[in-house]
Parts: sequence; structure tokens; C-alpha cells
Amino acid sequence: MYIINRHRRLRLNESIRSMVRENNLSPQDFILPIFIAEGQNVKDPIASMPGVFRYSLDLLPQEIDEIWNLGIRAVNIYVKVDASLKDNTGKEAWNGDGLMQRAIKVVKQTAPEMVVMPDVALDPYSIYGHDGIVKNGYVLNDETVEALVKMSVSHAEAGADFVAPSDMMDGRVAAIRDGLDENGFENVGIMSYAAKYASSFYGPFREALDSAPIDNQDVPKDKKTYQMDYHNSLEALREAEADVMEGADIVMVKPGMAYLDIVKMVKDQLQVPVSVFQVSGEYAMIKAAAEKGWLDHDKIMLESLTCFKRAGADLISTYFAKEASILLNNH
Ligand code: PBG
Repeated sequence: MYIINRHRRLRLNESIRSMVRENNLSPQDFILPIFIAEGQNVKDPIASMPGVFRYSLDLLPQEIDEIWNLGIRAVNIYVKVDASLKDNTGKEAWNGDGLMQRAIKVVKQTAPEMVVMPDVALDPYSIYGHDGIVKNGYVLNDETVEALVKMSVSHAEAGADFVAPSDMMDGRVAAIRDGLDENGFENVGIMSYAAKYASSFYGPFREALDSAPIDNQDVPKDKKTYQMDYHNSLEALREAEADVMEGADIVMVKPGMAYLDIVKMVKDQLQVPVSVFQVSGEYAMIKAAAEKGWLDHDKIMLESLTCFKRAGADLISTYFAKEASILLNNH
């Protein structure tokens, strides 16, 4: 047969394949989400997320050293707040001596160049398990934004490099940008969860932080009045565009694997740095299938992460960051 284009020539062996590869993964692509708890010598496993723990602050430096040495350069921080500190204002969120603020300081003291990106939303601090202040069965927008500004400034004071608002209130990026600038933090960046969907893939995370919306008829039972409807895609573009115009430096799409079309659309249309979050439920699915022997853990992990880059993501928040970095470094 005479065939002009024999595509298989470029797939003939691993050397050739590696030369023509369009996308590659490296530890610098990852942001590791870390869960923090109060106490001493605490390394609490999270049942639905095998291999993920809540660490107390005394154990944090060891963890940070380890991931820095693997080449990981950024962390998201999430805190499990004591029930006695939760209310409907979220005021513990901007306590300068709160768990988050102390955690940020520990990370920066341990690895000054680690990029610290704390989560900004009220859910870990809310008695109702909502990202904002609840009134008459609704999560208030503007009042919540004011709280998020105070929270962001307090993260910056503790040493955060970026703040990562994950709340999906309208107008919060502009307000946070103003608040940071007014307080002399013009070099603290904003990575906004711009297209964050109301997703059942967040289940294990809410277990980790004890932050699920409570079951009470006066409280919205889900986050659908602020997080996006998964039937939609153009709406994601409006959200991301608005965040960029309001001053976001990086925009995030979340969840990840089922939302690659959104990642690609945002990257193609806006051409700004885009991050994607491979969320807790995605991690749990892969771990569970691998435990049953139904999937090859390491191969699926690297495939799923590489596909984020192919879709256009510059950065990937993933609970696999450590395991994937170890594999990539030993390659
Ligand atoms: C809090 C927040 C959530 C996640 C990140 N920040 C949960 C939620 O919105 O309910 C989910 C992360 C994950 O599932 O891994 N606003």
C-alpha cells in the first residue's frame, strides 16, 4: 500500500513519542490542598480520601519540607474549625490568631518561597455550613463579600501570596482587590474559583472539614443559589470574564475531570492563567477503584492529570500532587 501519512511513525517507540509530546506534567504544575486541624501531633486520616490527612501545626513543617523537596511550589490551605468558633457571621475567619492565619505563618516560616493560597469562603466557620451569611433562607451576597474582604486582608497579613476565593458571591474579586490594595497588599494575588459548579463531587471534602450545609428548613439545603448549574457552560465564561475584569490573576475551574470542556473554553477565550481543581470526589473515585483492583492507580493518576494540561490548564490543584511528583521525579 502507498500511504503518505503514516501517523504511527511518530509513535514507534518511547523516545520518538517523548520528542513529539505536546504536553508534559511536572511538580510545578501542582497545587497541593492541605487540611489543618487544632491540637498536637495530630495526623487524622479522612475516611473517604485514603492517603489524605488533617495535620496539626506542629506536624506541618515536616510535610511542607517534604513537598518542597519534591518540587511542589504551591499549597491551598483548608482548616477544620472547632464547632464552638462557628457562627453565622464567620468572624473567626479574620481572627489574626485563627488556625488559618497560624497555618499560613508556619508554611512561610518553613519554606519562604512556597506559594501559599488559602481558601477564602465562610463555610468552615459557618454554623450552617454555607460559604456566606444566611438570612431568611438565602445566602446574602453583599454582606458576605464584606466578610470575605476582611478574611482576605487577614490572610495577607499572615503572609499569604495569593488568596483563593471559593465562595461564588458576585463582586467579591473587585472588593477583595480593593481591600488588599488599600491595606498595602498590592502584590498579593487572587486566584478566583471563577467557574465553580454546585457539585456532588465535593462530598469527601465536606466530611474532612465538617462543613456540609446542615439539615434545617430555614437554611438552604445546597449551594445552588451561588455555585453554578452543571447544565451550563456559557455561564462559566461570563463568570471567568467578570473575575478577570475585576482583577483576578488566575481563574479556576472546578471540579476537574468532568469539566474539561470548561477548562478549554476559558483558556481559549480569555488567555489568562487557568487552574483546575481535581476535587475530593474525583480523588476518592480513583482511590476506590484502584483499591478494588479495577484500575491501575498510577497510570490513571498521571493520565487524568496530563489531560488537564491538554485541555489548557496551567495549574492543577490535586490531592495526588505528592504521589504524582514522586513518580515524575523518578522517571
Ligand atoms: C469551600 C470549598 C469547597 C471545596 C473547596 N473549597 C467545598 C464546597 O464548596 O462545598 C471543595 C474541594 C474538594 O472537594 O476537594 N468553599
